Amino acid sequence: MSGLFITFEGGDGTGKSTQVRLLTEWLIEQGRAVVTTREPGGTEVGTALREIVLHHRGEVDPRAEALLYAADRAQHIGTLVRPALERGDVVVQDRYIDSSVAYQGAGRVLDAAEIKRISLWATGDLIPDLTVLLDLPGDVARKRLAQEHKTFDRLENEHDDFHERVRAAFLALAAAEPQRFLVVDAAQEIDQIAHVIRDRVGALL
Ligand code: TYD
Repeated sequence: MSGLFITFEGGDGTGKSTQVRLLTEWLIEQGRAVVTTREPGGTEVGTALREIVLHHRGEVDPRAEALLYAADRAQHIGTLVRPALERGDVVVQDRYIDSSVAYQGAGRVLDAAEIKRISLWATGDLIPDLTVLLDLPGDVARKRLAQEHKTFDRLENEHDDFHERVRAAFLALAAAEPQRFLVVDAAQEIDQIAHVIRDRVGALL
């Protein structure tokens, strides 16, 4: 495949969507064809699944939850992302497999290795060329979210220690694959963060 697959990861409130937007704008200025997308969601099937995983009232079994994310991912990669990469586009994606490992694994019910295996099966082993991890202490992220948010979704409503486990899981994933990950301190100024990300992406183009 000739395209470039870039994913953004991090807890809720770390500023992912802002950085996804800024990177997309910069890539377009560089004359690149860009597909900007997100999980869950990104396709019609995915949007329906997103509604269930984020807003369903009542219990969702942890295995069912993991499979819903994997189903969304399979549809998304199969119908949108792979074709874009085959065309040679740059795909900038908000959340991917690492989110499943960090979030579904942080619930402590499911084994992280199993979750990863399911996602890899769902995507035919598609691994990003670069994963940007926006890292921020949980309490800072929560404060940001509280300022900008109307209501919390199911996962945002989890307790603080859940979010600390998610953060630790992301950092462990980054430490295990330093060549794929760029870890950025998300407490920095927006422009400073964007600059660090551009430098790295520019080197890959
Ligand atoms: P996000 O797109 O960041 O939501 P927002 O609309 O608030 O920007 O992510 C939605 C939630 O889904 C987030 O709390 C993390 C969770 N999530 C998982 O638990 N597992 C996954 O595999 C993915 C992709 C997301």
